[in-house]
Amino acid sequence: MYPCSNVELVAAASESGALGVIQPLTLRFVHGTGLKDGITEIRKLTSKPLALNVLTEKSAKIYQKRMEESVDIALEAGIRFFVTYLGKPGWVVRKVQSLGGIVYHDVTRRSHAQRALEEGVHGLICVNGTAGGHAGDLNLEELWADLDGLKVPKVAAGGISTREGYQKALKLGYDAVQMGTRFIATNECSANPDYKKAILEAHAKDIVKTWRVTGVPLAVIKTPYVESIGTEAGFFARWMLKGRKTKHWVRLFYSLMSLVRLRKMARPGQVSSKDLFQAGQSVEGINRVISVKEVVRDLTGS
Ligand SMILES: Cc1cc2nc3c(=O)[nH]c(=O)nc-3n(C[C@H](O)[C@H](O)[C@H](O)COP(=O)(O)O)c2cc1C
Repeated sequence: MYPCSNVELVAAASESGALGVIQPLTLRFVHGTGLKDGITEIRKLTSKPLALNVLTEKSAKIYQKRMEESVDIALEAGIRFFVTYLGKPGWVVRKVQSLGGIVYHDVTRRSHAQRALEEGVHGLICVNGTAGGHAGDLNLEELWADLDGLKVPKVAAGGISTREGYQKALKLGYDAVQMGTRFIATNECSANPDYKKAILEAHAKDIVKTWRVTGVPLAVIKTPYVESIGTEAGFFARWMLKGRKTKHWVRLFYSLMSLVRLRKMARPGQVSSKDLFQAGQSVEGINRVISVKEVVRDLTGS
């Protein structure tokens, strides 16, 4: 998660029996650590398997070289699981496959899934409309039905923070779940205490999707500030987002701005009324800051 996946959180997730996903942009822009050093730090805390999150969005072309380097560093460090998001993940598949690497791509609907499968991915992270981060628009069941017949492993992402939610996803047929928001309200996450408090206090109905941060819908807690500025992108940005080429420029601009804007929430310090709290509807089941181990144990019973 950008900006929340600090090394202690990723390590604790893997150490607890889940699979911790390293977000290289978080290491670099929030913690000022290179990926190699970040992995070294994580390895002091766990020897369990890890994954790497790779941004494959076309508008992030300026990051392309850095992302390729990140994949190389991860492979060299023995990481074999890759979670790609946005754009075309084919280059990651080609890079990692011959070394036994596996790529799961974030999808919000069937057309995205089909394109990702044509690119050669091995599994799908099925991001529903209740997710934190870049949410989709279908609910857990609708997305399952939409992806019917696609014979690859499917991971449910969005809205899950309790054992009931976890079991419901598995009962539907999903092979696993991916969670974000629940892990922010943990002892190991270095997010700002006010951010954690906002997650504990929020309900599912308080989550809205805004276009104003990254140029694609981003789930945030509805604060008076979010209400006052609205959730639509400005007129000029909306017009640019409609163009085939211009949409990539405007997204790039938004992405760069959001890297700076959002990182504050991952650090201790003063939170202002204009800060944005990213979270999914899974806030509904989150009432306490607990350890990652407890999160995994509460969810799976082991
Ligand atoms: C604060 C935050 C940041 C996120 N950042 C990323 C990211 O950088 N890359 C990514 O693939 N998904 C990201 N996600 C999405 C999560 O990986 C996951 O799919 C989502 O949180 C699931 O929904 P939940 O928050 O209800 O558990 C983020 C989610 C949150 C809450």
